[in-house]
Amino acid sequence: MDEREMDFENRLVSPDYLPEDDGDNPLRPRALREYIGQDKVKENLAVFIDAAKIRHEALDHVLLYGPPGLGKTTLAAIIANELGVNFRITSGPALERPGDLAALLTNMDEGDVLFIDEIHRLPRTVEEILYPAMEDFAIDIINGKGQGAASIHLPLQRFTLVGATTRAGQLSAPLRDRFGVVLRLELYSPAELAQIVSRSARILEVPCEPEGALEIASRSRGTPRLANRLLKRVRDFALMLNNGVIDRRTACEALDRMEVDALGLDAGDRRMLTAMITHYNGGPVGLETLAAMIGEESVTIEDVLEPYLMQIGFLGRTPRGRVVLPAAYKHLGLEPHGQTML
Ligand code: ADE
Repeated sequence: MDEREMDFENRLVSPDYLPEDDGDNPLRPRALREYIGQDKVKENLAVFIDAAKIRHEALDHVLLYGPPGLGKTTLAAIIANELGVNFRITSGPALERPGDLAALLTNMDEGDVLFIDEIHRLPRTVEEILYPAMEDFAIDIINGKGQGAASIHLPLQRFTLVGATTRAGQLSAPLRDRFGVVLRLELYSPAELAQIVSRSARILEVPCEPEGALEIASRSRGTPRLANRLLKRVRDFALMLNNGVIDRRTACEALDRMEVDALGLDAGDRRMLTAMITHYNGGPVGLETLAAMIGEESVTIEDVLEPYLMQIGFLGRTPRGRVVLPAAYKHLGLEPHGQTML
């Protein structure tokens, strides 16, 4: 396949939400104590939730940011659950007109949680009515057109907005400033992901040895959504190869066959790194050049591909662009001048 034909959306290791992830619902933790990892975020949230409950007040608005697939929606649902309030879910692109948001807001009860995913993609006109809604718990909507138009002031119940975005920097400053709590989710460690895989295996009633869970975890790029997806695929191989039991050997065999390597890189990642090495001597390569080179949007590279490659020390950022680091050469079996090691 040509580098340009690489279709990230359809890659097994894409952390984007896929229809097959829908069945994940039973795997989603419902309470903070069931949620594995993100310890700092959990500790802070627990304090804010308890304080809001003691004061009988709505929790302050919360912004969750970080790479896709880390559990932002899950965490938002947990916040509502822990507060004992209703949970409404929508997304930036789904709210096309101010009326769409007004309809949601006017139907909320005191203290309810409204979750807006991809909040950086809210249309400007919708974002503008969100400001007074968040700050004053009221909206002004224009009814009618031209001379007969009238502005209607609608008071709202006090609610909690939970916004999610892949990068806080993508948000306009006035919107970002209206969140009282801003929490950054980090990629998970293999040990945390192994706990998530073991928990999911128990729920799915798949026998999974700790070493098997750790193997899946190590190849899941710090992302629970991927870990759960790979678990389901490995489960199929285990059924055919090992009487349904996931041990380390079966997990390795299954993941190798799916071309997800020991660190979770797939052919696409390896091609990107190899192209940077062979065409640009390992960099620096500008983001736009890189995007054109592999046929990806630069935001996909920044939000999805890079965080993990940077976390494992394969890719660095410099003022002049991205550079391939020595660990990546070693992993690919290449010397720093693009020659294959013998
Ligand atoms: N499933 C997805 N994310 C999870 C998490 N952080 N803890 C437990 N199960 C999960």
